[in-house]
Amino acid sequence: MTIRKIKGLAIECVQGNIVDQPDMDAIVNAANARLLPGGGVAGAIHRAAGPGLEKECRPLAPIHPGEAVITGGHNLPNRSVIHCLGPVYGKDEPADTLLADCYRNALRIAAEHGIRSVAFPAISTGIFGYPVEAAAKIALKTVLDELPRLSSVNHIRFVLFSSTDHLFYERMLGEAKTKKQALLIDLDGVLYVGDKAITGAAEAVQWLDEEKIPYLFVTNTSSRPRSALVEKLARFGIITDEAVIFSPPVAASQWLKAHAPGPAALFVPQATKTEFNCLEELDPYTESGASSVVIGDLGESWSFPLLNRAFRLLMAEPRPVLVALGMTRYWRGPDGFHLDVAPFVKALEHAADCRAVVLGKPATEFFEAGLAILECPTADTLMIGDDIVGDVHGAQRAGMQGVLVRTGKFRPQDLDGDIKPDAVLDSIAELPAWWENL
Ligand code: APR
Repeated sequence: MTIRKIKGLAIECVQGNIVDQPDMDAIVNAANARLLPGGGVAGAIHRAAGPGLEKECRPLAPIHPGEAVITGGHNLPNRSVIHCLGPVYGKDEPADTLLADCYRNALRIAAEHGIRSVAFPAISTGIFGYPVEAAAKIALKTVLDELPRLSSVNHIRFVLFSSTDHLFYERMLGEAKTKKQALLIDLDGVLYVGDKAITGAAEAVQWLDEEKIPYLFVTNTSSRPRSALVEKLARFGIITDEAVIFSPPVAASQWLKAHAPGPAALFVPQATKTEFNCLEELDPYTESGASSVVIGDLGESWSFPLLNRAFRLLMAEPRPVLVALGMTRYWRGPDGFHLDVAPFVKALEHAADCRAVVLGKPATEFFEAGLAILECPTADTLMIGDDIVGDVHGAQRAGMQGVLVRTGKFRPQDLDGDIKPDAVLDSIAELPAWWENL
């Protein structure tokens, strides 16, 4: 059995009987014009549903090639049956359009009725004589073309009677969609710079929502909690939710709970501490007894005594683990470049002779944790960011594609180095047009 997840829709093919799909809301009938019992699929469905189905069908008939109507499931385990009349091959023309109409109309009826899962037989490929390979390609293409309009429908199953047909569908489904299917999106520098939105960013995110393309905002920001980022994005017209934002504090608190329970010495802004609520915080004035020393973006709050306290904690026995909330070297604000987390972590690593666990970009584990939330295979995901190292190279090392935008911290010389982005966009506003041509 092959299942593909494409833009939030699960598409699968199984070998079996259309009347034996109890987990599906609706099954599709390869009907005849008068919606009567017949051979093949229609015969099996009417037999399993009982005479009530024929009675309900009577006033709906006749239907024409390409049309679809819906009835209840009667004695079937499914809520509904969608009846389609496929074209008779060599007679009803244009056969490809009429067959596509069957799938399209069936899916539109399903969406109108709030149906979530639909099982299709290979319409027209039996008594009506349509060559199965050509019919299969039309079926899959039509389903994919309908994706943006599927609303309630999130699961489609092709049910094939013969093993030969099933094998062909398996292969076709396996080869389908060479496009990338999901996105990780950096925030700062991609959607906004400082307090200024990037032109077209809100529209690009809205387009992702409309197209049902799964995405996750992946930021190295450790200076503020997700709730503040949600508010900030809302000011730019981007309505989102904390669950769609993945940041080092979130990854770090999960990791620390599992790997270094005990008092955490948090070198993060006060506002970000809420993300660590599940951990015990070490008293801010002690210089020993930490299980972990967590370094975030303290910006101008860094001072020698503060950095030195982190150093002393790291030198105390038993030695705590040093955790870096990302390894971003710098960021660009409206007034110019600012040191980020990495330089301070490097100083501490050097002084205390230890290696930090990096829970943020560009660490592969961080990208992988984000991908796990998206439930999308690595190779099907791309990362879009303004940092050639943290975003593009980090994503490429994790097995994704990395797309660079010429906004935020981008500098033309970024393109002269060894790291080659998979694509370079002037800004995220170009994403929809670029994606369509993938
Ligand atoms: N479950 C799944 N697939 C089935 C089943 C079943 N129970 N029975 C047959 N099939 C397969 C066939 O092997 C074929 O590949 O479904 C495909 C469609 O076959 P048909 O049912 O013959 O449908 P179609 O080609 O569209 O012809 C419709 O056939 O039975 C009559 O009254 C019906 O006139 C209508 C015509």
